Amino acid sequence: MNKIIEKKQLNATNILFRVEAPEIAKKARAGQFIILRIREKGERIPLTIADWDKDSITLVFQPVGKTTNELAELKVNDKILDLMGPLGTPSHIEKFGTVVMIGGGLGIAPCYPIAKAMKQAGNKVICIFGARNKELFFWQDKFKKVSDEIILCTDDGSLGIKGFTTDGLKQLMQKGKIDRIVAIGPTIMMKFITLTAGDIPVVVSLNPIMVDGMGMCGGCRVLIDGEVKFACVDGPEFIGQKVDWDSLLNRVKTYEEEEHKCKINLQ
Ligand code: NAD
Ligand code: FES
Repeated sequence: MNKIIEKKQLNATNILFRVEAPEIAKKARAGQFIILRIREKGERIPLTIADWDKDSITLVFQPVGKTTNELAELKVNDKILDLMGPLGTPSHIEKFGTVVMIGGGLGIAPCYPIAKAMKQAGNKVICIFGARNKELFFWQDKFKKVSDEIILCTDDGSLGIKGFTTDGLKQLMQKGKIDRIVAIGPTIMMKFITLTAGDIPVVVSLNPIMVDGMGMCGGCRVLIDGEVKFACVDGPEFIGQKVDWDSLLNRVKTYEEEEHKCKINLQ
């Protein structure tokens, strides 16, 4: 059982939980995730570790279905049944030169530990964040401490560049050399960032349907360079230029009908 020690509504759609988890916090590295359950026979939710300190880890999520809505009901001092992790291969951190971190919506949160580690490794870190409108950005002060520049893009033009993160990237590519891109957000965004980047290596964090998170169920399989890989153990990070985006986009849509029914039942 893991106690929730802080709960914050970051904006209209995203919630932050800081959860007591000293064993996970001790081992956590940038890019890793946990799987949580709130009930014995309940759904397993994979969430990237967005930050940690000595005794706790920070999780940021969006209530979108039955379990994430139940999770959102929990309060400070309530306990999560179990957290499994840290899972997945940590991010590849080294001094690349100029690293561009791209976060779309909720995907902004998991960019934080990677940006921090890239900065500590001596890189110039530029962040491009995208959201539907200006109210949906969060953690700008936190990111200022670990990056050299932040470029904001909004779908509705209420702040920064009017357009998607791909528009921010196109403008930045005209200004100077980029050595590496890390993109986290909607699958479609990660696909189009990869297409926009040309031959600049793009690291994407994939979150297809996960079940056991331990490489045994095959639920999270993705095609990388024509080979089957499991996002939970071989990833979650892969080089975008090697991902078979069409098969991944089909897989993430597998339960679209059930998800739609689930959302209707929640209304
Ligand atoms: P959203 O749909 O509001 O999109 C956020 C931003 O992503 C947009 O403002 C835009 O800048 C960019 N974007 C969206 N579609 C794009 C496209 N076709 N081309 C270029 N850029 C595009 O996002 P949301 O509702 O906050 O949802 C966040 C998504 O991020 C969810 O799908 C979630 O699964 C995913 N996510 C992934 C990870 C991960 O580890 N891969 C972690 C957290 C969240
Ligand atoms: Fe089961 Fe990855 S979640 S193999």
